[in-house]
Amino acid sequence: MSSCLRLCTAASCRSRGAMALLQSSDRPVKEVGCLGPCSEGPLAAEGAQLLSLKPAEGEPLAPSLGAALAGSRAISADDPFLKLQRRLVLARCGVVDPGCIDDALAQGAYQQLQAVLAANNPSAVIDTVRRSGLRGRGGAGYPTGLKWATVAAMPSDQKVVVCNADEGDPGAFMDRTLMEGDPHTLLEGMAIAAFAVGAAQGFIYIRAEYPLAIERLRRAIAAAEARGWLGTAIGGSRFSFGIELRVGAGAYVCGEETALIHSIEGRRGVPRPRPPYPAEHGVFGLPTLINNVETFGNIPPLLRLGVEAYGAGTKVFSLTGHVQRSGVLEVPMGTPLRTIVETMGGGAPPGRQIKAVQTGGPSGGCIPASALNTPVDYDSLKALGTIMGSGGMVVMDDTTNMVDIAAFFIAFSREESCGKCIPCRSGTVQLEMLLRKLLERRASAADLTQLEALCHTVADASLCGLGQSAPKPVLSTLRHFRGDYLELLEPGEVVR
Ligand SMILES: Cc1cc2nc3c(=O)[nH]c(=O)nc-3n(C[C@H](O)[C@H](O)[C@H](O)COP(=O)(O)O)c2cc1C
Repeated sequence: MSSCLRLCTAASCRSRGAMALLQSSDRPVKEVGCLGPCSEGPLAAEGAQLLSLKPAEGEPLAPSLGAALAGSRAISADDPFLKLQRRLVLARCGVVDPGCIDDALAQGAYQQLQAVLAANNPSAVIDTVRRSGLRGRGGAGYPTGLKWATVAAMPSDQKVVVCNADEGDPGAFMDRTLMEGDPHTLLEGMAIAAFAVGAAQGFIYIRAEYPLAIERLRRAIAAAEARGWLGTAIGGSRFSFGIELRVGAGAYVCGEETALIHSIEGRRGVPRPRPPYPAEHGVFGLPTLINNVETFGNIPPLLRLGVEAYGAGTKVFSLTGHVQRSGVLEVPMGTPLRTIVETMGGGAPPGRQIKAVQTGGPSGGCIPASALNTPVDYDSLKALGTIMGSGGMVVMDDTTNMVDIAAFFIAFSREESCGKCIPCRSGTVQLEMLLRKLLERRASAADLTQLEALCHTVADASLCGLGQSAPKPVLSTLRHFRGDYLELLEPGEVVR
């Protein structure tokens, strides 16, 4: 690890004045991506030492980097936020300059691609991914190796690899962190996937709200092409693979894979029924592999470590809300929720108690504080009525009314519904109306019964994942926080 001063100039530290500090510096500074505990930002690092340049409460940002460093606070390497992480996907994030391919190459970028090309055995790569048990990090948790094998088996001489970088869940910024901090890991993961399934064309579908990630990816793609890690005859082999960026126009539903495909094709971003799945009929009708940013980000470390040392892998989370320390962290898969929220995040603000943790965004649910010992993995969270989702984790303290939260997420889904199918288009409107009625204390017990029944209708009858999972925040809060609903019923209402 380089011992020069590294300054985080990713989105969160930028919003706290990192660029002003960079410009005021009279010493060489390396720009890096996210260092983790964003709430302590702006953040800098020297060797293994992490420094918070955050001014004291109520004070302005220091006038120069020198002054900020003079008043900085060291965050110990033993701090649980740092110590309990296992950084595989984010290993180079905060270490390399995302704008400098030489730096990334010096830290091992493209070595796994080189090894894969030298071995020239695509099915061995797929076998490794399959044996690792890696599941998609975009939300649904589909086995990655199985998806790769399906695309690889399609009898077509033209195939496409797509990276889903739409990241639209409120409170989620894990994918942005990797793209801003270490874009070459993503590009390498995509190139390895393309080699494994036999694709020559790649797309990264990224939301327009991520201008810095877009800029850094564009630069990284150009640099990788110039060095022969993308383009024709990669690494001197017969494998060719190019990546184009496609910038979304801000629709949440375009993160759904069939809507995303339509959007890449230049059509309106609305979903269609599956089957056919993208693996058979994807971009321009070609067999298409779609994976999430973090899923691709797992590939180089998995191949570097091998299946055994990789173990159960990791999950990257963005921790926000009523928590003392927020930011991005990568922990071993199965880490208890309590460890993430209380030990690493410092728990609720002083004098407050944690009431719930929301995972999975508008498709997920709220976990009550009584279940904080749950290990965070796909199946444990599903059993609690929520999903792992892509990794947004929003902590709520005891000042939160869970009906309010349910109404917030339903309003989000109603706003983002593309309107193609009626259960989602009308159902989310009706669900929101019932929730508002409750919040205004005009609802009867019959309204509550109707709310629950309508949740099931919308979930069962909607065309795509947006409508199918939109009722989850309502159902999970009804399940774990029914008291919050009952308290809001009209006075005198009899409830079962
Ligand atoms: C409404 C909706 C939004 C979605 N948004 C995203 C997203 O922003 N990023 C993502 O990777 N997957 C998203 N997904 C899941 C994708 O459809 C798809 O399952 C995923 O990209 C597959 O990649 P994975 O197997 O690596 O998880 C969304 C799904 C739905 C229904």
